[in-house]
Amino acid sequence: MSRLLVEGGTVVTASGPVAADVLVDGEKVVALLAPGSSPGSSPASSPASSAASSLGRASGSADLVRVDARGKLVVPGGIDVHTHMEMPFGGTFSADTFTTGTRAAAHGGTTTIVDFAIQPRGGSAREGLDTWMSRAEGHCAIDFGFHMILSDVSEPVLKEMPGLVADGISSFKLFMAYPGVFYSDDGKILTAMQTAADCGAVVMMHAENGIAIDVLVAQALAAGKGDPRMHGETRPSVLEGEATHRAIVLAGVANCPLYIVHLSAKEALEEVAAARDAGRQVFAETCPQYLFLDASLMAGPGMEGAKYVCSPPIREAEHHEALWRGLGTDDLSVVSTDHCPFCMKDQKELGRGDFSKIPNGLPGVEHRMDLVYQGVVEHKISLARFVELTSTAPARLFGLYPKKGSLLPGADADLVVYDPARRHTLSVEAHHMSVDYSAYEGMEVTGAVETVISRGEVVVDHGAFTGREGRGQFVERSPFAGVDVPARTDGAR
Ligand code: URP
Ligand code: ZN
Ligand code: ZN
Repeated sequence: MSRLLVEGGTVVTASGPVAADVLVDGEKVVALLAPGSSPGSSPASSPASSAASSLGRASGSADLVRVDARGKLVVPGGIDVHTHMEMPFGGTFSADTFTTGTRAAAHGGTTTIVDFAIQPRGGSAREGLDTWMSRAEGHCAIDFGFHMILSDVSEPVLKEMPGLVADGISSFKLFMAYPGVFYSDDGKILTAMQTAADCGAVVMMHAENGIAIDVLVAQALAAGKGDPRMHGETRPSVLEGEATHRAIVLAGVANCPLYIVHLSAKEALEEVAAARDAGRQVFAETCPQYLFLDASLMAGPGMEGAKYVCSPPIREAEHHEALWRGLGTDDLSVVSTDHCPFCMKDQKELGRGDFSKIPNGLPGVEHRMDLVYQGVVEHKISLARFVELTSTAPARLFGLYPKKGSLLPGADADLVVYDPARRHTLSVEAHHMSVDYSAYEGMEVTGAVETVISRGEVVVDHGAFTGREGRGQFVERSPFAGVDVPARTDGAR
């Protein structure tokens, strides 16, 4: 195992930026060093900082591989805690395999994903985990973990939960949407939350009122309205707000930590903010599609709108501003992607004339870091917050910190050298995801991934994939340890 020195860059952690070199030995970070202090190092162009000069000194340079980060940011590898590779949905499977999806993730600066294993209805959770493990193991280019989707809460499944937590599956996703598929009623949700609270797990919630939505969907179809745009119209944001409120109330009764997934609407954000103001262990993520894309896209000609069909649906632009504000105030703790790509050909097409048959989901695992970085470019969030949202907070919430999400000595050497100035255009022609369109086609962004290091190995070098299928390891995640949510009584937000 070689040693590696990432030199001359501005190291950014959730605590802020500092000029420093990062010394890696084998798979681990060993030290942050004062710039230029390692033997034979070239003078860094970044200004020396007093904070960095108190750091260690590298000794011996014979076996050292040098990565030039001059003029670049050096950040902890991205952690995307919401992906769906090879996920069965609506009679088809999401188009990225663990092989293609994790390679694309690496290109985008993500070094860990947490995907979702699914308990088959009427079957055991363990069976679901075994199925997903066999799909992922030996195929991932970066490290991976699993949450467990409980699609059929029952006494035997509740009894399985502590064993799964002991095996590193410390979070369970439940659905208030998709009746007959993944849906759990309030009683089942409550019992799963009680069990999760007892065994140190987080409950993740898909918070949309699926019973009411199914009525609206049936009414639209009966009225002959089958266009993709009706997907959004039959899933109004108030039904996300209502479900979010109910999930928070149930989690309070069970005293269970709650994480709202793919939050898209200001009504839902208000519920999360109120719970957090009261000091509750309630957290939420949003996704780039809810920050950048708006509902008008679903009204595109023909089947164009199907490209943007996901649940919850992308919302009117007025929600974007509220979500960006939530990212700034920490009412939203994480940006993940909910990467769940379906090709237009043969997949999204399944819903021609009946929007309810369009497989739900968008591609995005490759673009998360670049898209969140636009918040820095546009002065909506700080550099430190960029790192917190994309790496440190997901690591803390899902039992990966400090092994992942930090650059502390002893942490896994998952690093990204990020060029803050390079502009590039997101496009199906340029992306590595296995899907025949881009949800962000033609969007120009500032900032680009240059080098990606996963456990000490360079896996992306100036746009070229240098990793290998199967090198990614399963990461066992610790039980939920609690995260500070300071109660706010002063209305400061
Ligand atoms: O549309 C979506 N979000 N597809 C993936 C499944 C889910 O609910 O996360
Ligand atoms: Zn969901
Ligand atoms: Zn999802």
